Amino acid sequence: MSNLTDQISSRRTFAIISHPDAGKTTLTEKLLLYTGSIQTAGSVKGKASAKHAVSDWMDIEKERGISVTSSVLQFSYGGHFVNILDTPGHQDFSEDTYRTLMAADAAVMVIDGAKGVEAQTIKLFKVCTLRHIPIFTFVNKLDHDTRDPFELMEEIEDVLGIDTYPMNWPIGSGRNFRGVFDRQSRHVLAFQGDGHANATKKVGEIEAELGDAKLDELIGEENHKNLMDDIELLDGADNEFDMDAVSCGKLSPVFFGSALTNFGVEPFLKEFLRMAPEPLAYTDTLTGQKVDPATDEFSGFVFKIQANMDKNHRDRVAFVRICSGKFERGMDAWHVQGDRKLKLATGTSMMADDRAIVDEAYAGDIVGLFDPGIFSIGDTVCDMRHHVKYPQIPTFAPEHFARIEQVDTLKRKQFIKGMEEIAQEGAIQIFREWGMGMERVVVGVVGVLQLDVLERRLKSEYHVGIRRTPLPYTQIRWITNDPDELDLRSLNLTRDTLRVEDMRGGRLLLFTNEWNVNWAVERNEGLKLSEVGNIT
Ligand code: G4P
Repeated sequence: MSNLTDQISSRRTFAIISHPDAGKTTLTEKLLLYTGSIQTAGSVKGKASAKHAVSDWMDIEKERGISVTSSVLQFSYGGHFVNILDTPGHQDFSEDTYRTLMAADAAVMVIDGAKGVEAQTIKLFKVCTLRHIPIFTFVNKLDHDTRDPFELMEEIEDVLGIDTYPMNWPIGSGRNFRGVFDRQSRHVLAFQGDGHANATKKVGEIEAELGDAKLDELIGEENHKNLMDDIELLDGADNEFDMDAVSCGKLSPVFFGSALTNFGVEPFLKEFLRMAPEPLAYTDTLTGQKVDPATDEFSGFVFKIQANMDKNHRDRVAFVRICSGKFERGMDAWHVQGDRKLKLATGTSMMADDRAIVDEAYAGDIVGLFDPGIFSIGDTVCDMRHHVKYPQIPTFAPEHFARIEQVDTLKRKQFIKGMEEIAQEGAIQIFREWGMGMERVVVGVVGVLQLDVLERRLKSEYHVGIRRTPLPYTQIRWITNDPDELDLRSLNLTRDTLRVEDMRGGRLLLFTNEWNVNWAVERNEGLKLSEVGNIT
């Protein structure tokens, strides 16, 4: 396959979202196993022992068994090049999930069949709908007793407000889970094998038609009868399969299976790849036009920056979603925000936990560029002659604040470097207290856990200890007046309001409650405040 259009149209780039423990990591691993990308699963059980799920990188993730950073995995299957963007399930990291979704063309939502729609599913789903991308549902853990599939579908529709269309239908559940009925081919896929936990092999599947007498033997007489009743009910329901509704995220195709035992994973993968979109066109803010992914001119944007993934090489990687054309290692490109030429010298792709050097990549792919500290989230890189600029990625307003001071004053340099680098990755926002230097700063985060990560990373990567004092602020506002128009000193504010500056010199106020915001506006004529863009 050499033609640019063919290469690009074979790409499928998606993110997997789920409430923690629904099985996202297990499903990701099984997809990699199926496609021969990895040989052994970093058994999910092993999270508690020595082996770790391949997509969990940082120590804190391993210790707590949660995914903190999103990783990118690539494999090829059935003529498709697939990029999976893993996302953290924990709510404290939904901002990271949002950025990752900016780089995805579709999302897969994993739901625990026994638990249904959970708190974090709702939050992540909302983030997904902001992008209007197709959302596919995988109802997992059918090898355990699960809730009635009709009830689950109703819950997805009621709670998430999306229509559903079951692509297949489970036959039994728990020990009695025998297979799925494929609604398109009208065939039963009866799973063979014991489907033991942590199965790493493909399960055998036998196809048979509904009503066929041999099904009584394959799936049991009662299951067969129940299935026929269910299918009659489903066929009578009014939800039509409508690909346009799927494409804009209004209708979610639903699949049933068990990631752990491999049941239903391959049928899901095949159908998903058939329906998932080719790389979508992103809008160039310079012209307001969509950029055709298959144009010759390369372009992309940074959606994630991650430092020190490999402790042996203290490096930083800027993950770029390629939006158009072809990336070639060593190519010259234009860094729009830096207003300068760059040599894209190092391209890496994530293959399980190895980072392979990438020589070429196409629209839809994600490449990790070596970042000497020049990139920020949302930056555009593009063809030297044909400049485009992709939209900024909005940030979440921080909801938690803490004062961070370095403990050892001799380590001032490392402290500042660490804080700045971690802030550039978008995990924290740093504010300088008015009139103070950088040795004592206020940090704002979306989730409290990000403060734990900050403390841990400063210690392990920069060898700096910190003192952390939680601060009671809940509201953050920019002052939009010109600096010469308004002197911060002259402001009449409640005693518990803090004046701070962001790293670009922007002036802000931190308030403990909404009442104090109103107080400030009422007592200071001409004070202009604006909310920090909040996308939740
Ligand atoms: P996550 O990334 O969404 O957080 O979930 P993960 O894949 O880590 O799976 C969470 C737990 O659910 C794991 O249990 C995993 O083995 C189990 N699991 C995943 N898929 C299935 C499935 O299809 N069937 C069943 N029965 N279990 C599944 P764990 O690591 O053993 O431990 P624990 O976290 O339950 O202690």
